[in-house]
Amino acid sequence: MTKQAKQELYEQLLIEADAVIDSNISWIGNTANLCALIQSHFQHWWCGFYFVNTNNQLELGPFVGPVACTLISHGKGVCGTAWKEQKTIIVPDVHQFEGHIACSAASNSEIVVPIFKGETTVAVLDIDSVEFNTFDETDQYYLERLVKRLPF
Ligand code: SME
Repeated sequence: MTKQAKQELYEQLLIEADAVIDSNISWIGNTANLCALIQSHFQHWWCGFYFVNTNNQLELGPFVGPVACTLISHGKGVCGTAWKEQKTIIVPDVHQFEGHIACSAASNSEIVVPIFKGETTVAVLDIDSVEFNTFDETDQYYLERLVKRLPF
């Protein structure tokens, strides 16, 4: 996919996200709808959210795709690292990422975007691809903008 084609899909996605995000409901419905919206444009292998729970672990939330790991500790895997470092992590080849948690053997690249409430990470958006090198700075730019729209 060209950079321009990707940008156009994301611009449309942002418009649709603004239309469906409902500030009157909890995170469950909004993140479920965002998964559906992302997948309607990109058809990734797996797209979902993990939330920091009361035991200070990442707990599986709404997602689209095959069944996934339910709990991830702080600093573990790509998700736990993005949480710990409070920054987006792009992994071109998950087999080269030390500590990668393989929920699915089919996944080959991944992006994890932390979601903040103030200074604190409250959740992460995780997207997996069966292709290598799927995600780049364009995905990071738009997905960071996208998750900022979520009311927490
Ligand atoms: N690969 C992730 C685990 C979550 S699944 O990909 C859905 C990780 O290393 O944190």
